[in-house]
Amino acid sequence: MSPMTAQIAEKVEAAPRRRSIGEVVLTVDDLQTVFYTRAGMVRAVDRVSFALKAGETLAIVGESGCGKSITALSLLRLIPDPPGRIVGGKVVLEGTDLLSLSEPAMRKVRGNRVSMIFQEPMTSLNPVLTVGRQISQALMMHQGMSKAAAMERAVEMLRLVKVPEPAQRVKEYPHQLSGGMRQRVMIAMALSCNPRVLIADEPTTALDVTIQAQILDLILELQNQLGTAVILITHDLGVVAETAQRVIVMYAGRKVEEATVEELFARPLHPYTRGLMASIPRLGLMRNQTVETGRLQEIPGMVPPLFDLPAGCAYAPRCALADDRCRAEYPPFEEKRDAHWAACWHAGE
Ligand SMILES: Nc1ncnc2c1ncn2[C@@H]1O[C@H](COP(=O)(O)OP(=O)(O)OP(=O)(O)O)[C@@H](O)[C@H]1O
Ligand SMILES: [Mg+2]
Repeated sequence: MSPMTAQIAEKVEAAPRRRSIGEVVLTVDDLQTVFYTRAGMVRAVDRVSFALKAGETLAIVGESGCGKSITALSLLRLIPDPPGRIVGGKVVLEGTDLLSLSEPAMRKVRGNRVSMIFQEPMTSLNPVLTVGRQISQALMMHQGMSKAAAMERAVEMLRLVKVPEPAQRVKEYPHQLSGGMRQRVMIAMALSCNPRVLIADEPTTALDVTIQAQILDLILELQNQLGTAVILITHDLGVVAETAQRVIVMYAGRKVEEATVEELFARPLHPYTRGLMASIPRLGLMRNQTVETGRLQEIPGMVPPLFDLPAGCAYAPRCALADDRCRAEYPPFEEKRDAHWAACWHAGE
């Protein structure tokens, strides 16, 4: 174990983990989303499956372009068509397959039973509406609240996400708020209808480190209070170590490893996961530390273009362990240890 991995392992140990995890609320089964591009068809999400339980935080990690956001957007059926399309699989939320719902029925799910926080709040907040209007709209639409009641609830929500002077702030426009405050407003919006599932896609990368920690704490605190299941998409394994119970590692549109956080950090099986762990910056990027101490030591090579994936394992061109079989045959996603899956012919070597 490298000193870095050891430090991360300490973080995993120290993190307060929610114990009251409930029933499965969301099942994703063999999800396939493609993009039709000029260069050819891209399998952005290639047969991804997972289950999510109430109160649980599931992290999805992987390098840029590996399909994390497209997985999240597919769950909400927010893939722009064209050029994209969900071509297979099931997304079952408490017994209902979201992929077979009509669009009007789907609109009742979004922002209500499943909601999402995006990386950059300015792209998802409406600049010409006050934050109060934006939060109250969802409440009026989904919960049938009157305008006055919804506005009152909006103030409550802002108080809940620790926006100071909520009664005043509720009348302001997004541009009048700092980045951290806008992200809190997004969280207030996302949680206002008490969703069963909250998807947070890089919710803190645009923020500075201290604010990042506050926002993450806030999400976890609200999750504890409300029992929400959280899908947390991040590049940052430090964040994963401190917040998630379970982790999915994606590479080139596929799931390559899945395990509990403790297990994954103690025994990463896929060479790609090991590479990601080796590329964690010295604790500089981790929470409660404001000093950035160095650059990422990145995994050599690049994610291959998704329209031109090699025949075998997509990681083989970058993998020190790759042999002829890896280059010829895609490894099955298998349970290699108890509740620990990986897709690698050399898992754990
Ligand atoms: N509008 C689009 N048109 C064509 N291809 C797309 C489009 N959006 C996404 N893709 C394809 O889907 C792949 C996955 O994209 P996605 O946004 O899910 O990556 P990501 O893992 O979220 O990356 P990042 O960490 O940078 O946010 C991309 O590599 C790209 O090939
Ligand atoms: Mg993304």
